[in-house]
Amino acid sequence: MRIDILSAVPDLLQSFFEHSILKRANERNLLEVHLHNLHDYSAKKFKQIDDYQFGGGAGMVMCIEPILKCIESLQKERRYDEIIFTTPDGELLEQKMVNTLSLKENIIILCGHYKGIDERLREHIITKEISIGSYVLSGGELPAAIIVDAIGRLIPGVLNDETSALSDSFQDNMLAPPVYTRPADYNGWKVPEILLSGHEKKIEEWRNQQALERTKQRRPDLLQND
Ligand code: ADE
Repeated sequence: MRIDILSAVPDLLQSFFEHSILKRANERNLLEVHLHNLHDYSAKKFKQIDDYQFGGGAGMVMCIEPILKCIESLQKERRYDEIIFTTPDGELLEQKMVNTLSLKENIIILCGHYKGIDERLREHIITKEISIGSYVLSGGELPAAIIVDAIGRLIPGVLNDETSALSDSFQDNMLAPPVYTRPADYNGWKVPEILLSGHEKKIEEWRNQQALERTKQRRPDLLQND
């Protein structure tokens, strides 16, 4: 899979991709992430990529040209399945959407900035708009990193333990059950007996029941979905 990220400040993302599980994904040729600086596509003297909004009002708007030039140069090389724009008024990112995106071959993610992008790009070029939550961040770089991280860990071979992504919270609309490690007794704080019993079937039942309890208590909305 290949993901191209278009940003006004790609340096913000560089270190993240060099120091996360995504580095291993890249080394194993499972996921390639490419960062593109939108300023490199500006024809203006000082490489600006934003301008005042028509009709007046506070805040700058990202211009069509540098974004479109960058996207078109990428599209000359390959076909893209989605051109995503990160924005607080997009569709809320959830595990189901992440699962679907992880099956794509080539994706572009455009990081929003300032007041947003010229609406005509949203009408004609963007195929999907994603919000990571009902709050406003200063830019789309963190949302892009979150989207790529969530996708990357689902690609077979990226995580060492293949089964662990499947048992995550939110897969099957359930939160994950509690987990414990050694020591079994930490100054009187004891691990539930059942987990030490070696009885695989009973352990699985216990985990399912704990997951259900936790979901009922913390995210009952998940149990109402389809
Ligand atoms: N840009 C600013 N805030 C955002 C959010 N909540 N989700 C996605 N992109 C954003």
